[in-house]
Amino acid sequence: MRLIELRLENLRNISSLDLQLAPGINLFVGPNGAGKTSILEGAYLLSHAQSFRSGPANTLIRRGADQFNVFARIERQSGPVQVGLSRDANGWAARINSDDAASLGHMLREYAQVCFEPGTHALISGGSDERRRFLDWGVFHVEPDFMATARAFRRALHQRNALLKQGQSDAELDSWDIELAHAGETLATMRRAYFQHYSRALTAALTIYLPELGQTTTRYGQGWSEETSLEEALLETRTLDRSRGYTGRGPQRADWSIAFAQAPLREHLSRGQEKLCALACVLAQAQLFADSRGEWPVIALDDLSSELDDAHQRLVVDTLSSCGAQVLISAIEIPACLRAMDTPTCLFHVEHGSMRSLL
Ligand SMILES: Nc1ncnc2c1ncn2[C@@H]1O[C@H](COP(=O)(O)OP(=O)(O)OP(=O)(O)O)[C@@H](O)[C@H]1O
Ligand SMILES: [Mg+2]
Repeated sequence: MRLIELRLENLRNISSLDLQLAPGINLFVGPNGAGKTSILEGAYLLSHAQSFRSGPANTLIRRGADQFNVFARIERQSGPVQVGLSRDANGWAARINSDDAASLGHMLREYAQVCFEPGTHALISGGSDERRRFLDWGVFHVEPDFMATARAFRRALHQRNALLKQGQSDAELDSWDIELAHAGETLATMRRAYFQHYSRALTAALTIYLPELGQTTTRYGQGWSEETSLEEALLETRTLDRSRGYTGRGPQRADWSIAFAQAPLREHLSRGQEKLCALACVLAQAQLFADSRGEWPVIALDDLSSELDDAHQRLVVDTLSSCGAQVLISAIEIPACLRAMDTPTCLFHVEHGSMRSLL
């Protein structure tokens, strides 16, 4: 899969930008605050409808403008497609081939991009929300019913939590427990099946990026005991849930983790090792996507040179160039590995939200 054209309007400091992208490595260089990350972020929005940076979605809209627009022409094995995404004060609007998309989810299915950026280490050092969101993006791309199941689960959880807070009767809770358990079990099964495959890809990637840490163990926790059904778990904790006013067990508590023989706890990792571990997580997800779909997602590497040492930059660039993925890299200066290599690179210079193609 690759972006042929990316158009950004009123996104952060970019008023209007129209990029023609090359198949392999596309490198965006420029000074701090120029708009390099915003370009990668614009493309990422088309596959996540959410930035990899924190903050409300409306802060993506250029100050003084009413809405931002992102548009891309995409080439895929299944044929070309054009997608568009806008955001204004009322929310999102998505288009597929100039028609309004039936839902945001329909548009998100059309394009896939993963991203490694300075905040990605939160996959290792951050809370479980981050890891669930990350996992769910992968599940979404392999399970056609994921969106509907996740929505049904969220609705049931919201209802049950409201009933718990209101102190409603057991009879009221019973019916929502059944609904919550049904959607929750399905969701957990989807996640577990995905994680089984993901774990293999992840272990392979970790062996490449962190061989010095020895054997890897990965673990997926579904959010309640493996020994009981979700319905039983909900019944068991009902009294406790009533007293705290929310549901303490279930897929909303799912998490996954990585441990190494030489670093059994995440606190044993150096900051750089944490980043490499996060990079392996992202690349493993891309690899799994490629294995199941027969084509690579677009891979964005934001601020590459400040995140990794030269040897690891070279390793990742070499690996990605040889697999044929389209890669979007941002950096303040041309990274040493790209200066030295004869990898064909399409170079763009970014300044004040506008851009020049240099090669
Ligand atoms: N909503 C907004 N409206 C206008 N400008 C914004 C908005 N949000 C962020 N900016 C500005 O957009 C610019 C581009 O930010 P971006 O993070 O893309 O830069 P960058 O080139 O990646 O810089 P760095 O090298 O520091 O990471 C910054 O100057 C930032 O202050
Ligand atoms: Mg940046």
